Amino acid sequence: MTTVLVIGATGKTGRAVTRALTSQGVTVIAAVRSPERAERAYAVGARSISVIDLSTGQGLDEAVTGVDAVYHLAPNVHPDEVAIADRVAGTAARAGLSRFVFHSVLHPHDPSMPHHLRKAEAEKVVRTHVPGATVLRPAAYHQNLLDAAHVGRLAVPYSLDVPFTNVDLDDVAEVAATVLTRPGHEGVTYDLAGPEVLSVREQARVAADVLGHPVEAVRVELAEWVAGPGASLTSQARDDLSAMFASYDRGGLVGDARTARRLLGREPRSWADALTRS
Ligand SMILES: NC(=O)c1ccc[n+]([C@@H]2O[C@H](COP(=O)([O-])OP(=O)(O)OC[C@H]3O[C@@H](n4cnc5c(N)ncnc54)[C@H](OP(=O)(O)O)[C@@H]3O)[C@@H](O)[C@H]2O)c1
Repeated sequence: MTTVLVIGATGKTGRAVTRALTSQGVTVIAAVRSPERAERAYAVGARSISVIDLSTGQGLDEAVTGVDAVYHLAPNVHPDEVAIADRVAGTAARAGLSRFVFHSVLHPHDPSMPHHLRKAEAEKVVRTHVPGATVLRPAAYHQNLLDAAHVGRLAVPYSLDVPFTNVDLDDVAEVAATVLTRPGHEGVTYDLAGPEVLSVREQARVAADVLGHPVEAVRVELAEWVAGPGASLTSQARDDLSAMFASYDRGGLVGDARTARRLLGREPRSWADALTRS
């Protein structure tokens, strides 16, 4: 039976990947920063935990011992993403692991978004250590806007009319489980985008239909975001996300759904589907 070490298994993406793997009978060891958060990984089926610190590499050697594969993701907009990728992929390579999947992002080479460029650099570092690594490049998740849809207000600091091809996190996790456990994906990079092109204004309309209550789309000023949701972030994270909003404002974030469709063997889940399941 395959055993996979999932990095960031207590977070949004790591939990979805853990759930997808364990639902297929794969054994997951959850790499966690703190044992106090382990329950979040056990709740989605992890068999055991390994305590690691991505910022120093502490615990990584022990964590990769005895596993067949590693799913690596970096904490969101982390300034040391490249060094973290170096630590994790370097440790996996020294342990002789060849099955390694890196969770990147759609359009990592876009120069207008510093945190995307760090992902492009991290991809390179991963491939240097593990040439057969598989790279997933997901679009923005449907799940990012679900809570706001339920509250009835999609408030974003960028244009309401630019296009997005958001992807369902559960589809990303299903693809992750496939490439971790089946042959034929070594050394390949996959863009993962959803099946529809929708602006935030259109997403609000769909959400109102599906949820049966009003959902407004509101453009907030960047200064309002900085003083509100952005206030608790580090200045570097605020700058990264402000650059991302400016990039979204110019052209949204759009990818091609064909790869996800092929890897899933079905139509990727729509925004309406994500709302219905939430
Ligand atoms: N959201 C999207 O639409 C989207 C789309 C494409 C790609 N991505 C990428 O997906 C990745 C994951 O995003 P996410 O939203 O799932 O992140 P998240 O929920 O913030 O999870 C980050 C994980 O990393 C762990 N972590 C943080 N610092 C650590 C450290 N020093 N040592 C060990 N573990 C540490 C966290 O542990 P704790 O639970 O202890 O904090 C958590 O498990 C990001 O790189 C993001 O860029 C996101």
